[in-house]
Amino acid sequence: MTQHIVPEVFKPLWKEKARYRGAYGGRGSGKSHNFATMLVIRAVSQKGFRAICVREVQRSLKESALRLVSDTIDRLNLGGEFSVQTNQIKTPGDGLISFTGMQDHTAESIKSLENIHVAWVEEASNLSARSLELLRPTIRADGSEIWFSWNPRNETDAVDQFLRSENIPENSIVVKSNYDSNQFFPSELEEERLFDKKHNVERYSHIWDGEYEPRVKGAIWDRATIHAHRRSDPPEMNRIVVAVDPAVSEEGGDEHGIIVCGIGEDNRGYVLDDLSRHGSPKQWAEQTIAAYDKWSADAIVIEINQGGDMVRHTLESVRPGIRIIEVRATKGKHVRAEPISALYQLGRVSHVGTFDKLETQMCQVTSAGYQGDGSPDRVDAMVWAMTELFPKLNRQKPKVDHRENVSASWMG
Ligand SMILES: Nc1ncnc2c1ncn2[C@@H]1O[C@H](COP(=O)(O)OP(=O)(O)OP(=O)(O)O)[C@@H](O)[C@H]1O
Ligand SMILES: [Mg+2]
Repeated sequence: MTQHIVPEVFKPLWKEKARYRGAYGGRGSGKSHNFATMLVIRAVSQKGFRAICVREVQRSLKESALRLVSDTIDRLNLGGEFSVQTNQIKTPGDGLISFTGMQDHTAESIKSLENIHVAWVEEASNLSARSLELLRPTIRADGSEIWFSWNPRNETDAVDQFLRSENIPENSIVVKSNYDSNQFFPSELEEERLFDKKHNVERYSHIWDGEYEPRVKGAIWDRATIHAHRRSDPPEMNRIVVAVDPAVSEEGGDEHGIIVCGIGEDNRGYVLDDLSRHGSPKQWAEQTIAAYDKWSADAIVIEINQGGDMVRHTLESVRPGIRIIEVRATKGKHVRAEPISALYQLGRVSHVGTFDKLETQMCQVTSAGYQGDGSPDRVDAMVWAMTELFPKLNRQKPKVDHRENVSASWMG
């Protein structure tokens, strides 16, 4: 095995005996690598070791820590001891590391985790209070432990309440790490950090110093509400639309918002996908149409106040005859967003999975304007999609364009 170096800040996590171990802090501080290394070392020193890497929502294995754990095995030159499979890792002595999303579990199914030695919750700021409550009594094998790594967001988040409030469990070790405690901090991230220091002053200390997210005064969405209704699977959908809000200029930092939303047979709204991206008109058009195909959407929703013809034209040049619904902004941006935020407050919208960037933008929209940097393209697209899916919110009915149906039949 290759010798591994443990950064000073994480050493307490390695030494003492504890039921709960937590590392929180800013981006790139080595939290994930540290726990991945601990996991691999445990697995070689304890035959038959069983661990589970947990996230609140895990839509695919790509989102899991599988890659990180398998890279760590390679980094430590331990490839011969493990068998890395597509969805799990066999550890020495017939043990296993597997990967799961808490939202895929019911109170019943979670019982399958009872013989686990270590559960590691990655990105634990996303962990809901329900999941934490399910997990704690489930991990009950003799000497079993639960580990948490997270970038703090809100002091009301379940993991912060559990491990950073006044009454934390006695048998827990919690450390804070930042980029400057990671001797492996890569130069690419250093560039990002310096950029944020200069251009993203408001959020710098949240992102890099591990401080709580600055709460935007008067924001019309909040994380707790979004979390409370999050799901990992959508029900049957009655309608699905893709909304696209292209950035005005290609050079600016703004992205093209591309959001997929649906209305379920339960008459609730669902945010299904966020495929927003930078790039040329052809690229956003292709991405939007790929989303349309992937989700078998009914239509693409575009807003026609600003260059609507150009948007239509760009989409049609990629896919002639595609079904487009044009909506016209008759009210200001934030006025349009408010009825949608009211739906969230009423518990009528769920995010299927976590859409970090969209949710960050949402929590910076106030009735007086957007308090984030640039333009909230993702929110705009989401608001358009939901406005189309909940037409009663919109007194002036969106205009549905049937022209394309004619050309669609032409196109065969
Ligand atoms: N033990 C290590 N060996 C080699 N490189 C490491 C190690 N620990 C950290 N790094 C480097 O530092 C970077 C940041 O580490 P890591 O991803 O673990 O941080 P993090 O705190 O989990 O970051 P984030 O907040 O983005 O989740 C890694 O991408 C890797 O390049
Ligand atoms: Mg990490």
